[in-house]
Amino acid sequence: MPELNILCIGDIIGRSGRRVLAQHLEEIIAKHNIHFTIVNVENSAGGNGLTRAVYEELAGLNIDAFTSGNHIYDKRDIFKQFEELNLLLRPLNFPKGQPGTGIRYFERNGLSIAVVNIIGRVFMGLSDCPFQKMQQVLPIIKEKADIILVDFHAETTSEKQAMGWMLDGNVSLLFGTHTHVPTADDRVLPSGTAYISDIGMTGPRDSVIGVDRHIVIKKFLDQLPVRFELPRVSSAVLNGICVKVDTESGKALSISRIYEVYDE
Ligand SMILES: [Fe+2]
Ligand SMILES: [Fe+2]
Repeated sequence: MPELNILCIGDIIGRSGRRVLAQHLEEIIAKHNIHFTIVNVENSAGGNGLTRAVYEELAGLNIDAFTSGNHIYDKRDIFKQFEELNLLLRPLNFPKGQPGTGIRYFERNGLSIAVVNIIGRVFMGLSDCPFQKMQQVLPIIKEKADIILVDFHAETTSEKQAMGWMLDGNVSLLFGTHTHVPTADDRVLPSGTAYISDIGMTGPRDSVIGVDRHIVIKKFLDQLPVRFELPRVSSAVLNGICVKVDTESGKALSISRIYEVYDE
């Protein structure tokens, strides 16, 4: 059976996340015999957003597509240059007129692979309905693509699970990002969509979702305005998934979690 192995790596947090990615991506790709790699980069520049320089640095690695989320416009640098960065996606259901695109098509082993990035609305900023948007664009994407991979950047597991069920059988993979904490509900749904509520993050391990834990504890204690900073780290975590897809049917055959800890 012809198969395609897909690697997805969760939100890269600052320098520490970029460093472990650069140092270990090739060994992960080799170990799992990966054909196509997606990395979520919304926190890759200093913890918030993406710069042109960081994009170029990451584009030099063996990565096929970059997804993002609510932090993608945090650095103005990227805001102006978005159109030139042809591996980068931002959520499809952002308000009309915002720079960038939420669907990109890639060619691999003679197959057309669609990568779609959408964002949730529960406990998030304002955006168009991701459910209605997906229903709207799915027929168009299915016309063009053999394999459809979706990054749903959302806060709640319920919103993500509902999207997983809505898309089951229509896409090869729906994976969640944004919470920075991996969930243990990875499975192939009955009609052949690989699903996980969140793949977790890649960056400082002894942190609160990537941020210096002392700052976050203080913030919870005194509720005063504070600038979040990344911690000086002694170890980094790399979180992701590996998904096997049957290229004839487009259905997922398996999904497994990747969880690696590296000493800095
Ligand atoms: Fe994130
Ligand atoms: Fe996010």
